[in-house]
Amino acid sequence: MIILITGGAGYIGSQVNKELNKLGYKTIVVDNLINGHIELVKWGTFINLDLMEKKELIELFKAKKIDAVMHFAAFAYVGESVLEPKKYYLNNVVGTLNLLEAMLSAGVDKIIFSSTCAIYGNPVYTPMDEDHPKEPINPYGRSKLAVEHILEDFSRAYGLKYVSLRYFNVAGADFEGEVGEWHEPETHLIPNILDAAIGVKPYVEVFGTDYETEDGTCIRDYIHVVDLAKAHIDALEYLFEHESSDVFNLGTGKGCSVMEVIEAVKRITGKDFKVKLSDRRPGDPPILVAKAEKAKQILGWAPKHGLDEIIETAWRWHRRLRGLC
Ligand SMILES: NC(=O)c1ccc[n+]([C@@H]2O[C@H](COP(=O)([O-])OP(=O)(O)OC[C@H]3O[C@@H](n4cnc5c(N)ncnc54)[C@H](O)[C@@H]3O)[C@@H](O)[C@H]2O)c1
Repeated sequence: MIILITGGAGYIGSQVNKELNKLGYKTIVVDNLINGHIELVKWGTFINLDLMEKKELIELFKAKKIDAVMHFAAFAYVGESVLEPKKYYLNNVVGTLNLLEAMLSAGVDKIIFSSTCAIYGNPVYTPMDEDHPKEPINPYGRSKLAVEHILEDFSRAYGLKYVSLRYFNVAGADFEGEVGEWHEPETHLIPNILDAAIGVKPYVEVFGTDYETEDGTCIRDYIHVVDLAKAHIDALEYLFEHESSDVFNLGTGKGCSVMEVIEAVKRITGKDFKVKLSDRRPGDPPILVAKAEKAKQILGWAPKHGLDEIIETAWRWHRRLRGLC
């Protein structure tokens, strides 16, 4: 089977590309390398193409016999999306529409979409299940929710089969160290703590210490990227077996506070570093934790790796990325 992976030169897409190839799928990676890295494309065929180039996309789908699509390509910086919403709606929504048009023109009817817990907005209750109200508080989240609606409508009207996977906080790296997190700039917590542990950054900054949580810092649900990749394989099998569409949260159901993550990094790396306590950032909900029972029940998926393995694998990867080993 041939799977087309958009954004396969990025953090998560490259891990899923590895898993697919391990299982014998053939892959075509489509990425314009705007935020991706060719060094992360270690399997399959690479095509340098922007999803905004609709004509070329349509030709590509006509030329290859593609069985299903995994769609990771998007912009994903929340702060930037507030400053430049047009950029986000164009890339994330119009880019996806182009992709769907190309798929339908070639009779490809299966897609797995990278959605996010950002579509829920501020938690009304926790842990959040898939029925939680969807009121995203930034253009990034709204662009992803718009795509979820488009998929629903295309499914009803054109028979498209989709699975939307709503990721919580993805972290960690491949256990063999072949691919890992590589964002520029890096906004995610764990790589930023690792930079402080390495000494690339003078300190790690904690935004908000007066939340209504046990230690006053924000709580997030960290899911290992290898577990996340496995969920994509399960979702793909579901699409082929059931020929129906669905949405799933992907998280562990267990929250860790920023301070807990910092302490775990200190313990695992054996490094001490400065922690700067700052004010809250606007728009950061105190707690984001997934209820991921649905993925367990329907996909048979369950995360296997906890915070320690996330930090161990990310530490190995991150030191190499910074040229330290
Ligand atoms: N990393 C997380 O914690 C997280 C959480 C929730 C959702 N997501 C979603 O998962 C997906 C992957 O995230 P990631 O962390 O791997 O991001 P990433 O930036 O590492 O990867 C995205 C890839 O898409 C490519 N791309 C972007 N726009 C493109 C276009 N128009 N045409 C072709 N290629 C394009 C980039 O070059 C990059 O390689 C994104 O859709 C993101 O919104 C990520």
